[in-house]
Amino acid sequence: MFKPRVYVTRQIFPDALDLIEKSAELELWPEDQPPSPEQLKEALADVDGAIINVMDHIDASVLEAAPKLRVLSQVAVGLDNIDIPESTKREILVGYTPGVLAKSTADLAFGLLLAVARRVVESDKWVREGNWKISHHPMFWLGSEVNGSTLGILGLGGIGLEMAKRAKGFDMKVLYHSRTRKRELEKEHGFKYASFKRVLADSDFISIHVPLTPETNKFIGEKQLKAMKKSAILVNLSRGPVVDTEALYKALKKSWIAGAGLDVFDPEPVPPEHPILGLDNVVVLPHIGSASNRSRREMHLLAARNLVAGLNGERLEECANPELYESLGI
Ligand code: NAP
Ligand code: GLV
Repeated sequence: MFKPRVYVTRQIFPDALDLIEKSAELELWPEDQPPSPEQLKEALADVDGAIINVMDHIDASVLEAAPKLRVLSQVAVGLDNIDIPESTKREILVGYTPGVLAKSTADLAFGLLLAVARRVVESDKWVREGNWKISHHPMFWLGSEVNGSTLGILGLGGIGLEMAKRAKGFDMKVLYHSRTRKRELEKEHGFKYASFKRVLADSDFISIHVPLTPETNKFIGEKQLKAMKKSAILVNLSRGPVVDTEALYKALKKSWIAGAGLDVFDPEPVPPEHPILGLDNVVVLPHIGSASNRSRREMHLLAARNLVAGLNGERLEECANPELYESLGI
């Protein structure tokens, strides 16, 4: 019996691989490091479908090298690594994994916010370095009050909404700016819509949840950082290039803002000698927003189901280019 061929560019949960293997011949990239562009082209040269992730850059040249490809299934919600218009032109369905990771990513965003505000990482390091010589001092390790302060959300989508809900539990006021105003959510949760400028000026914490697009590249640069409160803390769990890294370094070094929590960075991985890592008012995590066992497993299973559906000529549970359904007759 004919079985389509599938390439999986990184190890994923075994039950997701099992699901794919029921309907396809599967090959798995054996390394932790992503394949190089040339290796990726070679891997995709003769396959019908692929499971990929955010480190795999799928541009027109990769698609050109994959003439049989019918389904690309991304294990992520962000799609900035894939040329979607080119995929659509070539009638390749693109699957992705929104929703199942929103809560865990917002959990981490709130954790980062708390860590920077209350100096968790900095004080832990201080203890480990043997500096805890006075049991308690009334003026040591003061940080920013989280409860009762104002959280500004940029991008009130799946993750932004979960972040805003967490803030409500901490009695924070929530301001948001998003491409589309969400009046229902305002009514239901008491969030307040504001211009981009007002969110920057009025928030004690600013959490970024927009996708990386040509419009959001360097969304936060010198001008925006200078428009924030000096006491503001910036949290970024979107994509590194949404924040201008050089401007952020300047802002943290010169105290234009008080601190930053970054789960994403430009470039990624951050070089260990990067000057931002020498600052105490920043916490940097290695892009682990959705990295809980449950969320990752659900992402892998959803990506596997998207892939299998596309290979079977069916609609995907989550598709980034559903406009293809009509021309594909599904
Ligand atoms: P989503 O549901 O699509 O939400 C994105 C929100 O941003 C939407 O509400 C959207 O528009 C808004 N938006 C888009 N462009 C905008 C602009 N120019 N100005 C203002 N708002 C804009 O996506 P999500 O699931 O929340 O994920 C958001 C991003 O987080 C992903 O694209 C990915 O890059 C990143 N992410 C990172 C991690 C991690 O591990 N750190 C994990 C998951 C996701 P509307 O206002 O029109 O709805
Ligand atoms: C992770 O970064 C994602 O976009 O899901």
